[in-house]
Amino acid sequence: MENIQSRIDYLRKELLRHNSLYYEKNNPEISDSEYDSLVKELERIERENPLFASSNSPTQKVSGFASSSFEQVKHSSPMLSLDNTYSQEETAKWYERIKKNLDNKNIEFTIEPKVDGVSASLTYINGILITGATRGDGETGEDITENIKTIKNVPHKLETYNPPHLFELRGEVYIDKSDFEKLNKEILVSCGQKFANPRNAAAGSLRQKNPQVTTERKLRFFVHSFGKIDEKQFENQSDFLQYCRECGFQLQDNFKICHSLKEITDFIDIMIDKRDLLHYEIDGIVIKVNSLQLQKELGYTNKSPRWAIAFKFPAKQATTRLSKIRIQVGRTGIITPSAILEPVMLAGVKISHATLHNFEEIERLNANEGDTVLIERAGDVIPKIVKVAKKRSKGVFKPPRYCPSCNSNIVKENEYEVAYRCINPECPAQFRRHIIHFVSRNAMDIDGFGEAIIDQLLNKKKLQILADIFHLKYDDFIELNLFKEKKTNNLMKAITASKKQPLSKLLFALGIRHIGEKISEIVAKRFKNMDALFNASIEDFTRIPEIGDVLALSLKEFFENKTVRKVIDNLIDAGINMLEPETEQSGTQLDGKVFVLTGELKNRTREQASEVIKSLGGKVNSSVSKKTDYILAGANTGSKLKKAKELNIKIIDETEFDALIGK
Ligand code: IVH
Repeated sequence: MENIQSRIDYLRKELLRHNSLYYEKNNPEISDSEYDSLVKELERIERENPLFASSNSPTQKVSGFASSSFEQVKHSSPMLSLDNTYSQEETAKWYERIKKNLDNKNIEFTIEPKVDGVSASLTYINGILITGATRGDGETGEDITENIKTIKNVPHKLETYNPPHLFELRGEVYIDKSDFEKLNKEILVSCGQKFANPRNAAAGSLRQKNPQVTTERKLRFFVHSFGKIDEKQFENQSDFLQYCRECGFQLQDNFKICHSLKEITDFIDIMIDKRDLLHYEIDGIVIKVNSLQLQKELGYTNKSPRWAIAFKFPAKQATTRLSKIRIQVGRTGIITPSAILEPVMLAGVKISHATLHNFEEIERLNANEGDTVLIERAGDVIPKIVKVAKKRSKGVFKPPRYCPSCNSNIVKENEYEVAYRCINPECPAQFRRHIIHFVSRNAMDIDGFGEAIIDQLLNKKKLQILADIFHLKYDDFIELNLFKEKKTNNLMKAITASKKQPLSKLLFALGIRHIGEKISEIVAKRFKNMDALFNASIEDFTRIPEIGDVLALSLKEFFENKTVRKVIDNLIDAGINMLEPETEQSGTQLDGKVFVLTGELKNRTREQASEVIKSLGGKVNSSVSKKTDYILAGANTGSKLKKAKELNIKIIDETEFDALIGK
């Protein structure tokens, strides 16, 4: 019993603390879903132990409060919260419950996005905007009228001839993703800080004491419900929204009326996919019974309506411990920090690493090993650290003074760059990364020469210079015990085949600063052989339209370097091709056409398909845009296809592709 009481006390206290961080300070320490799971736990314990229930518990009240630094506004009817579900099964249960409670009538449901912003209540008297208020504790809110009036899509006067005497509507104040990014850049420059997410930015902007600041923040408003309305009756939620449109409010596009559970769950699936494409942040979907009469019959709990439910999307943010900051040395010597995290689930994926970009970013975050951090995963990208949620360490992590691999001095490139670099050309960590890059698919393409092999060969001192790769024997691999005869034979074949790679691939493989795949190709096509490159002047390089001063200087410095001469001589001795083959004057049937490749192709690799497209005058891009002409799709395609369908881009399979290239 004592245990139960102390857990309840703890949870209630924690929830109040998090409410204050979220609503008062706009600076939460935990993510929404972590908050929701604390609420769910408390609800469960209170349900199972009714003796401990209390009407004062955060489970019984709308969270939030009205700060005394604003005038207070009493809402004419309470502003409630919504009950949440996190799965389609729970949604189905809610649906069945509604059907049962309403005697299985044919019921219409509306579905709207759950916009991740701040609720506000707007009161119009005789069509004139009189008051704007925050939700506060649900009963009393804060008077933010002047700030609400700065929002461009909030009409100051309803655009209707005969407005109701009292029209109190509720909605969400939010900020578009692009405006949020811009705002964060600006405030980073002016105050050295950022908002953790668009919701915090909207909340912080709405509760400004100076409405001029709010004006600059580009807030938007979206109507979703109403409080008290005199002299006007609506039959349905959809009629109410339509009337709001006539009055001059902007509605969201993603609204739908559904008649079955299937329609609802299908729409939810579509919105999960569409979520990242919307220009505003949504954290779920709200499902409501459309008929206001049926809503009345279902009624309310003391916190939320029974006629609505929010399907919450998997969280994009979570908090965890930053266990370690790992330093990696890149192949050009640049050292980059990355975060090792205590594993945490985020949007269904276990996360244990996050990017930290560079040391300036660590300084800005004021992060150090041991801190609790808020991480975010947007789309498919590697998670990033948004902020330190709780400072648990002293000070901020500093860039190391010595290279973790070779102990040489670490230097800062120059005062304008953020990169720190190990300048020892013989640094083993650089050499290791250099080999990994050299053998990689788009470089010399030695299939099977993985990191585990490289590490063992380095350990055994079998790889001391680049050309050693080509002197390795069958036995050198088999004795590593990493794989058997067949794979070893394949690897030997791949090494031999790679000796014939064209000059363009070799140039890219050499990892010349600033020289990527495309430029390597252009340079190789122009100079045709390695000797010509050693003899070229800066002007010879800058004569190529795609090459400016920085690239030309980098090429010149590279080929002037005596070590480079030695590396190339060794590669020549090992039998590596130093020529760019003449491309047969190829066709032009794909002239100017832009392709995006997706999925696994059957008859060729994606690289081979790219080569063909390029040789016929076409272009290959990595992402789908309006400019894409064709998507060449193989098996197991991902999100690219979805986007292509949305943009109405022609999708072709390999057979159609063969026809296109005249095969
Ligand atoms: S309906 C009785 N519809 O979510 C409450 N709310 O977690 C009726 N929200 O406080 C609210 N989008 O501020 C409704 N399409 C939507 C919404 C929405 C966002 C907010 C709202 C509410 C909170 C509940």
